[in-house]
Amino acid sequence: MFKPADSSVTLSPLIANRWSPRSFDAVAEISDGDIAAILEAGRWSPSTNNQQPWRFIVAKRGDTHFENLSKHFAGFNAAWAPTASALVLVAAVTTNDDGSARPFALYDAGLASAFMTMEANHRGIAVHPIAGYDREKVKAEYSLPDNYLQTAILVLGTQASPDQLSDPALQEREKAPRVRLPLSELVIAGLPGA
Ligand SMILES: Cc1cc2nc3c(=O)[nH]c(=O)nc-3n(C[C@H](O)[C@H](O)[C@H](O)COP(=O)(O)O)c2cc1C
Repeated sequence: MFKPADSSVTLSPLIANRWSPRSFDAVAEISDGDIAAILEAGRWSPSTNNQQPWRFIVAKRGDTHFENLSKHFAGFNAAWAPTASALVLVAAVTTNDDGSARPFALYDAGLASAFMTMEANHRGIAVHPIAGYDREKVKAEYSLPDNYLQTAILVLGTQASPDQLSDPALQEREKAPRVRLPLSELVIAGLPGA
């Protein structure tokens, strides 16, 4: 299903056509090559002082990591996200070795997530980020240090028809138009043509 951005000017198809589906093909698989490319895209994103604070947990449906992560999905995420082919949890290392803060670590991890999303989409793999899962349980499962701030899990897979979602409310959300605030509300100063 296509839900292209209703933008005021034409965008790159990669940006315009990206969206976050919930209906995934429950038997489709992602190749190790595609996973490697997605992780490389994250690796090659920019970061503050090239600190590269992103850290990943990678899971493919059927493996232990997939089970470890998907059993902690919260609320309605538990109904659809386990049908994905792969998961990438993105954490940000928020301190330097001397304990000083890295104030932009979250920003950097978000950038890496965006790069991975775009590489995945370029390869025909849909991505849906989710923050709705139990961070504390995942932290304990992987003995993550306190300075590893979990951001979100990228849910990756092959898009399926909205009708494959068992919950009618989720089907509705899948078909709903994508909406955004107008640029006039986002640009504090300097909006072209204003
Ligand atoms: C950090 C983050 C956390 C999110 N968490 C969830 C989530 O737990 N469950 C969910 O269904 N969608 C989640 N989303 C998806 C957003 O709802 C979605 O990106 C937004 O509605 C815009 O829709 P679009 O991505 O299709 O343009 C999350 C997105 C981000 C960036």
